[in-house]
Amino acid sequence: MTYKIAVIGGDGTGPEVAAEGLKVLAAVSKKFNFKYKLEEFDFSGKRYLKTGELVSDKDIEKLRAFDAIYLGAVGDPDVKPGILEHGVLLRIRFAMDQYINLRPVILYPNVWTPVKDKGPKEIDFVVVRENTEGLYAGTGGYLRKGTSDEIATQVSVNTYKGVERCLRYAFEYTRKRNKRKQLTLVGKTNVLTYAFDLWERTFHAMGEKDYPDIKRDYAHVDAACMWFVKNPEWFDVIVTDNMFGDIITDLGAMIQGGMGIAAGGNINPEGVSMFEPIGGSAPKYTGKNVINPLAAIGAMQMLLETLGEDKAAQAIEAAIKKTCLKMKSMSAGKMGMSTTEVGDAVASSI
Ligand code: IPM
Ligand code: MN
Repeated sequence: MTYKIAVIGGDGTGPEVAAEGLKVLAAVSKKFNFKYKLEEFDFSGKRYLKTGELVSDKDIEKLRAFDAIYLGAVGDPDVKPGILEHGVLLRIRFAMDQYINLRPVILYPNVWTPVKDKGPKEIDFVVVRENTEGLYAGTGGYLRKGTSDEIATQVSVNTYKGVERCLRYAFEYTRKRNKRKQLTLVGKTNVLTYAFDLWERTFHAMGEKDYPDIKRDYAHVDAACMWFVKNPEWFDVIVTDNMFGDIITDLGAMIQGGMGIAAGGNINPEGVSMFEPIGGSAPKYTGKNVINPLAAIGAMQMLLETLGEDKAAQAIEAAIKKTCLKMKSMSAGKMGMSTTEVGDAVASSI
């Protein structure tokens, strides 16, 4: 069996951090004896500026033949906001029906957190973000655009099917994680009384019927932000909609040590999933060998976990933790090591 992995280096520091993730992949494949084949795709802002191309239907058909997709970052300051987001990242998420965005918020030993008096014991949870619906569905439009009577709507789309499959994934994940066995629904039931009513009803019905071993909890999204800072230890697994998940996982990334370490997976449990560091293309650090590749390496860990290479994934996690102990900081330029040195340290500890 040879895994087929599509690689999208992308823009800015994307290719640099992806290279370190691939270095680590090479190390674990040797150690745990599995084979893989890489194929590169040049979706990027750079290519868009040159040729006007984004991700075509044909590209999507090609991607369907892979076991996983590994993404560095896509984003170029010279491209108008929205084009690459919709044309590349959201395009792949939607077309491949990657309906889960899985984002661990785990503070590793020796990593600085801005949250006072909290450490790895307290900051250890995972956010399951719905990834294909909500405010991201693209429903809405203008009326009388450009006039003083203009109306703009952006509708949050929540389908029973979409909510159900996201909740089921979250319950299953909580059971498999087997830590506190607690799943917190984050919503806004006091204001968004239709959308989150559907979430809440489905959450409790499913939990009662199929997951009696999982403790159910609820938090409004604004309060959840407060608790991320004040009592992060209250969380085990969180499930939420697309927009709230986007927002709270940036906050989550900060309390786990910053964008240099935060990884995520766009997952279709029945299809092809895509893994990425969530920090973006960081154009100002491009080519300087100073960006932190640990988020990209963590994304590789998640990729292998999803392929069922659990031992390889665990080895990467242990190696990341060891490497953190040697680093001065998780921030670009302040690590006390270069990008490639961090990758080397992880690979050699494997
Ligand atoms: C993320 C990003 C994307 C999102 C953007 C780039 C479209 O912020 O992955 O969290 O909003 O989902
Ligand atoms: Mn985001």
